[in-house]
Amino acid sequence: MAEVILALDLPGRQPALDLVDRLPGLRWVKVGSVLMTREGAGLIRELVDRGLAVFLDLKWHDIPHTVRGAVTAARDLGVTLATVHTIGGEAMMAAAAEAAGPDLHLVGVTVLTSHDPASYARATGRSAPDLVAESTRLAGEAMRAGLRGVVCSAHEVGALRGVVGPAGWLVVPGIRRRGDGVGDQQRTAGPAEAVASGATHLVVGRPILEAADPAAALTDFLEAAR
Ligand code: C5P
Repeated sequence: MAEVILALDLPGRQPALDLVDRLPGLRWVKVGSVLMTREGAGLIRELVDRGLAVFLDLKWHDIPHTVRGAVTAARDLGVTLATVHTIGGEAMMAAAAEAAGPDLHLVGVTVLTSHDPASYARATGRSAPDLVAESTRLAGEAMRAGLRGVVCSAHEVGALRGVVGPAGWLVVPGIRRRGDGVGDQQRTAGPAEAVASGATHLVVGRPILEAADPAAALTDFLEAAR
């Protein structure tokens, strides 16, 4: 069983709340940097007030003091799940984990899916690494620093379960039903397949946002994730 998180990749507050209010089965929403920059903390409060668990996906990467402050602000808003970049290092992640307390869960972003080995090598100044090995290494750093788990593709879940342990969270975007358009996603998987491989949270955007009947599409994902 996994949670289904609707990625609210919409242009503003009103379309986001209009959609949420049409989805009675919805438990989780993800707010990313675009919607957060447009609408700010007020929208997070409105979503929390509706009883939704909010995943605030701002992928923090800054000095420990600043990330600690951002995590504290998210906790005060009632956010349930948030992301930090593992490349920010152990001290940053440890500061974040300490500030999060028991009710805000933090997961680490390892290697951005937009990287290929050559671009990662240029960004890090290392010779082109194996990106799966690099994700696994960074996931280990995340768990040592006290994070709850990591974000990963469905194809990495099996390899990462051993790293995050039995209680670790594996948050997986790129989920598609047969017949859904893949859009710009490179490594997709079906919801049941992702759950069978050990995903704990499925992040779904366009297959629900662009569906003719978003409530029916959400129900499909919830049933497949059960
Ligand atoms: O529309 P779609 O289902 O592809 O949305 C997936 C969501 O997950 C988007 O909000 C996207 O930004 C996010 N995401 C992703 N891949 C990552 C990390 C986050 O697709 N590696």
